Amino acid sequence: MLSQRARELAPSPTMAIDARAKQLLAEGADVVNFSVGEPDFDTPDTAKEGGIAAIRQGFTKYTPAAGTLELRRAIAEKLRRENGLEYAPEQIVVSNGGKQSLYNAFMVLLDPGDEVIIQAPYWVSYPEMVKLAGGVPVVVETDARTGFKMTPDMIREKLTPRTKVINLNSPSNPTGVVYTPAELRAIAELAVEKNLIIISDEIYEKLLYDGAEFVSIASFGPDVKRLTVTVNGFSKAYAMTGWRMGYAAAEKPIAKAMADLQSQTTSGPSSITQKAALAALQGDQGPVEAMRQEFDRRRRYVVERLRSIPGFDLEVVPQGAFYVFPNVSALFGRTIAGQRVENADDLGMLLLEKAKVALVPGSGFGSPNHVRISYATSMERLKEGLDRIERLLRESL
Ligand SMILES: Cc1ncc(COP(=O)(O)O)c(C=O)c1O
Repeated sequence: MLSQRARELAPSPTMAIDARAKQLLAEGADVVNFSVGEPDFDTPDTAKEGGIAAIRQGFTKYTPAAGTLELRRAIAEKLRRENGLEYAPEQIVVSNGGKQSLYNAFMVLLDPGDEVIIQAPYWVSYPEMVKLAGGVPVVVETDARTGFKMTPDMIREKLTPRTKVINLNSPSNPTGVVYTPAELRAIAELAVEKNLIIISDEIYEKLLYDGAEFVSIASFGPDVKRLTVTVNGFSKAYAMTGWRMGYAAAEKPIAKAMADLQSQTTSGPSSITQKAALAALQGDQGPVEAMRQEFDRRRRYVVERLRSIPGFDLEVVPQGAFYVFPNVSALFGRTIAGQRVENADDLGMLLLEKAKVALVPGSGFGSPNHVRISYATSMERLKEGLDRIERLLRESL
């Protein structure tokens, strides 16, 4: 009955653990959740007030499919001021989250069989979105030896006449790795040389640590800007995941196609959310920095703690986002709490059952030797969860 498209869609690979965690919680168990992909902070008041005012003022009707002009202007201004990118409002399309922006981009850029370079470890949705759009994900495996980054040579090896897009995500989910400006520049040069589109997911832009520098790849010059779709959003920077607000900036024909697609599928995002997003951009940016600092404090804590947890090898200290991605393969083949652990999925389930800690096995990110720990949770819960993992492993090994 179902279409081939639906049948080929991989369910979220973290579902088994997620479902079990929810079941345990429903039964009243005290589960420490390290699997979340959203800031645990509240949305800043400026954004909330913007949304409330929109409701009160009756700003509750359809907006243009690409978003209101005032919001697109404010985003253009943000991109100019913070990222050195000149875009006209007609080059900007706001959507229901960065997720929809990315999906729109793949949908308007890919013909059947077009190939998209995606690095592993990857955010789970990229390959599925590419497939839904008729494209073929071409995975470039990376590991700690290249700092979980692709080099132009690694990309070159995967290029074929069908390669159309290079997908980038820095700072990265799940590794927290940040490409340096020089590394991005080298990829930009390759894209220009081969005339490849870049889809640059910059959603974790604000979450940088240890002096890491963020640069938008499109800012290296007109040649690469012409080829780039810059994607960003409000979920991570402004703790607005539930509001659903993201955007893309691109050359006019691409932006227009994305807006047209959106007009026939979902229409513009919520009018109320658009006002909240505008208020977030124009209001006090203090909360963004406050969140970053708190994330940094937790990051340092987790990094330190992982040094003494047996079998958790944090090969690369992350400089962005809110995840750490340790290699746990030293635990494979071991028996822990009476159970044999063959892979990261087994370990994830074991930690959930025996330590009541939920984390995400790397298999879903195309990296089976790792697990992802999100530190978007309070210091107390972080400490509690890490204590439990450490205790269980020390008792068993
Ligand atoms: C790398 C990456 N890109 C995009 C998104 C999408 O976020 P949203 O649709 O909430 O803007 C996420 C969310 O987890 C993410 O981790």
